Amino acid sequence: MSEVLTITDSRTNKEYKVEIHDGNIRAKDLRQIKVKEEDFGMMSYDPSFENTASCKSSVTYIDGDAGILRYRGYPIEQLAESSSQLEVSKLLIDGELPSKDELSKWISDVKDENNLPDEINNIIKAFPPNSHAMGALTSLEAALSTFYPNSKNITDENENYKSICRLIAQVPILAANFYRHSQGLSFINPDDSLDYSENFLNMMFNGDNKKMHPDLVSAMDTLLILHADHEQNCSASVMRNVGSSEPDPFSAVSAATAALYGPLHGGANEAVLQMLTEIGSVENIPAFMDKVKKKEVKLMGFGHRVYKAYDPRAKYLKEAADKVFNVTGTNPLLDIALELESIALSEDYFVARNLYPNVDFYSGLIYESMGIPKDMFTVLFTIGRTPGWLAQWKELLADKDQKIARPRQVYTGYNSRDYVNIEGR
Ligand code: SDX
Repeated sequence: MSEVLTITDSRTNKEYKVEIHDGNIRAKDLRQIKVKEEDFGMMSYDPSFENTASCKSSVTYIDGDAGILRYRGYPIEQLAESSSQLEVSKLLIDGELPSKDELSKWISDVKDENNLPDEINNIIKAFPPNSHAMGALTSLEAALSTFYPNSKNITDENENYKSICRLIAQVPILAANFYRHSQGLSFINPDDSLDYSENFLNMMFNGDNKKMHPDLVSAMDTLLILHADHEQNCSASVMRNVGSSEPDPFSAVSAATAALYGPLHGGANEAVLQMLTEIGSVENIPAFMDKVKKKEVKLMGFGHRVYKAYDPRAKYLKEAADKVFNVTGTNPLLDIALELESIALSEDYFVARNLYPNVDFYSGLIYESMGIPKDMFTVLFTIGRTPGWLAQWKELLADKDQKIARPRQVYTGYNSRDYVNIEGR
């Protein structure tokens, strides 16, 4: 037997040897630990999965203490500086940087799916214009599945490739068309002569020079790269959980989008802008921080389950912000954001809890300065993250270790008890 963990159960004085693989144990090997033979056996109780590996993955690596993030081994810093969203999407999904020919075929295959079914555009127009963009997007992604019934054949690699291209191509179109609908504007068709991020901004702003400035296009592409994947975060875990029962990937992406919507996850970028607007001025920060320390409010855009150091993406977001503000003029809320960051990086309460700025802290300021409304911020996160969810989904389907996700529970309810008629209650 290779490396083992020896466990002695003080209830029975029995000793167990559990094999260690890659420094971990298989939770199912605990089931042999029983008091009585008929017992179910021991489980590990891990609410919110703080110490549970749900899968083996080679897509993304994070070292939270060192502030390291790599997609398929490539440091996020190098990809943010040198790559593009579509190239990073290909890297995440297939595992290698594409050759020149592979990249041009990939780009062409995605562009070939640059057309939403007309009925979907009619559904977009049926939403009240003031609907929250994330509620609409979640519904529209699921609705797309009804137009591609063959996408259910998830054992067919050609169908899966088509679904992947369709989702990467059409999520930005859903986003832009919903935005135009919410503003009472007509839809702008995708323009295949434009690159991915430029095409998205064009569908949003119809070639408005101020909003299509090359520096804004490049900042948008960098933002999408920075959001592309982040290993087993809440929404990626939902993508895997839902994917494990083998529905089509449009429905799984819709579920993952719903998870991302929450203010503790991708919805934090919108909550940050709300928070900065409510603080209103640098003078109001001390009173706000007192409320944070009293746990009356959270410091949105700060803290992370994994990073206990500066989120490496936040550094690039700050650089992208400078690039955008050079074009759009600075965002008046930036001074409040910078002062909040300076306090969080210096005051004991925040340092002791590793409350560093995360990916959501600066992104909202950038989106707002680009003329994107608050309720679209998490939609932008969704556009960036869709390739990562699809990479995780593809890896799940190929993993022979994986079956339908079905966790157990520690039951704390009543033992058996008899029904009581209403007269007797
Ligand atoms: C994303 O997982 C990912 O990778 C996600 C993501 C991705 O790319 O997919 O990186 C994207 O979701 C980033 C996170 C965005 N969310 C926010 O900015 C919302 C604000 N942040 C918090 O809600 C919180 O930090 C979480 C949810 C991000 C992480 O929470 P944890 O790991 O469950 O930490 P915790 O709640 O156990 O907090 C530990 C301590 C507590 O204080 P004590 O009880 O020890 O006194 O830190 C405090 C918390 O009260 N704390 C905060 C805080 N975050 C944690 N206090 C004030 N403000 C905060 N934001």
